[in-house]
Amino acid sequence: MLKDGHDVICADNFFTGTKNNVIKLLENPHFEIMRHDVTFPLYVEVDEIYNLAFPASPIHYQHDPVQTTKTSVHGAINMLGLAKRVKAKIFQASTSEVYGDPKVHPQTVNGHCR
Ligand SMILES: NC(=O)c1ccc[n+]([C@@H]2O[C@H](COP(=O)([O-])OP(=O)(O)OC[C@H]3O[C@@H](n4cnc5c(N)ncnc54)[C@H](O)[C@@H]3O)[C@@H](O)[C@H]2O)c1
Repeated sequence: MLKDGHDVICADNFFTGTKNNVIKLLENPHFEIMRHDVTFPLYVEVDEIYNLAFPASPIHYQHDPVQTTKTSVHGAINMLGLAKRVKAKIFQASTSEVYGDPKVHPQTVNGHCR
């Protein structure tokens, strides 16, 4: 997106991610990172939203089931609310299981495809 000339705001509560994941992008004036938990409303002006926030592997989502559920439900509701307010296009990530029978269930950390 940055290469295509877009401004990017990355919101992450660093539950599993770290700033190091985007350290090379921090010097780009078109990239902004904010510590934000999607279970709380977010007020930014954007025209596209990609909601990828989730403790994706079982070891992480089983660690705190309440926060995990909040991230899924409140996070999606908050991002949909933001999309509605600013009339943005929204992409919502989901589990690969929605595409059919997984080979391993629940997926292991290593089984969580990258
Ligand atoms: N990677 C894959 O192959 C794959 C396959 C199918 C589905 N998905 C889905 O795509 C999404 C992203 O997967 P990923 O592999 O990039 O995961 P990831 O763990 O690498 O990244 C998720 C990010 O979300 C952040 N996060 C967690 N809870 C948050 C919260 N409440 N508020 C803000 N940020 C929060 C984490 O800190 C982390 O940086 C997930 O929903 C996952 O289920 C991924």
